[in-house]
Amino acid sequence: MSAPNKSYDPVEVETLKPEEIERMRDEALAAFAAAGSLDALHEAKVAHTGPASPLALANREIGALPPHAKAEAGKRVGMARGGVNKALAARQAELEAERDARVLVEEDVDVTLPYDRVRSGARHPLTTLSERIEDIFVAMGYEVAEGPQVEAEWFNFDALNIGPDHPARGEADTFFVQTASGGGSAVREGGTESGVVLRTHTSPVQIRSLLERELPVYVICPGRVYRTDELDATHTPVFHQVELLAVDEGLTMADLKGTLDHMVQSLFGEGMKTRLRPNFFPFTEPSAEMDMLCYVCKGESVGNPDRPCRTCSSEGWIELGGCGMVNPRVLTACGVDPEKYSGFAFGFGIERMLMFRHNVEDMRDMVEGDVRFTRPFGMEI
Ligand code: PHE
Repeated sequence: MSAPNKSYDPVEVETLKPEEIERMRDEALAAFAAAGSLDALHEAKVAHTGPASPLALANREIGALPPHAKAEAGKRVGMARGGVNKALAARQAELEAERDARVLVEEDVDVTLPYDRVRSGARHPLTTLSERIEDIFVAMGYEVAEGPQVEAEWFNFDALNIGPDHPARGEADTFFVQTASGGGSAVREGGTESGVVLRTHTSPVQIRSLLERELPVYVICPGRVYRTDELDATHTPVFHQVELLAVDEGLTMADLKGTLDHMVQSLFGEGMKTRLRPNFFPFTEPSAEMDMLCYVCKGESVGNPDRPCRTCSSEGWIELGGCGMVNPRVLTACGVDPEKYSGFAFGFGIERMLMFRHNVEDMRDMVEGDVRFTRPFGMEI
């Protein structure tokens, strides 16, 4: 019986042969060289330097060798592993440098490009002007009041003393949503069946304010109104009004005049004033048409052909809108005692004011929504 073979195992030694070790090393180097990305290199690293890699397995075999063969094999495997790690580190550095260079190009920012290629919009001058007018009155203690644009006929007409036969109530001027005889969806307001219209002026907000608020009432009512006009250079079926209502004890026409003068001075500068011409509105009595001094020529173009004024057509005055003392019938309809209280109101169109204040010649420019129209008015958003 032969003694156990303690010094030599041909099977195990097979993996530690110089040409085997060399082959393992070369395979690793080839795999690293072939790795085209850091991910691929990571895979090659696991395969060729990880605990299950051929060289790691070979290294484990060394312990089983006879002492005299250990040093030689250890050196061989160690050198091969050293070479493999070095090649790995070199390839790693190479691929990282490539990636960094690529990222620099891909994420390059051209700091010379204009930053504002996407143009910002602008607030519409109608909004800006309307808010400016509101501010003048808020500064005097008025409150901003708003009401629905789809309005009961009673608020838009009846309560304002505009009787059923008034021409403005006709379909020629008013957009009807529902007529009073229209059955189920007509509304009940002021004790009667009322139709529904798109409000033709902001005056129904006077009524709502008087019904809803405690006296005295000082409100400014901006808003959109509707009339059956065709859109052209001077008409639009949807436009904006600002209406003012003050109801208190002892208010007179002098208060109305002073308030109007203050408004035009705030909007157009010192020395501005208004004038009143008799007129008729069902909801005010007495009623007047209000004009303001032309803010360009201050009236100096009148009778002076050498200095014609385009803004007022040399009239010296610009028509603004309507005004008057609130008709006692309106106060009564809103449950306010006309013996104790009086009030004044006025209303005018914002589009019209925008036209003469900023020389806008065509109303269609205001509704088309082209930012080239709004931008010159400043106020970016
Ligand atoms: N509501 C009137 C209109 O639209 C304007 C107006 C308001 C007149 C208040 C007098 C008082 O024409």
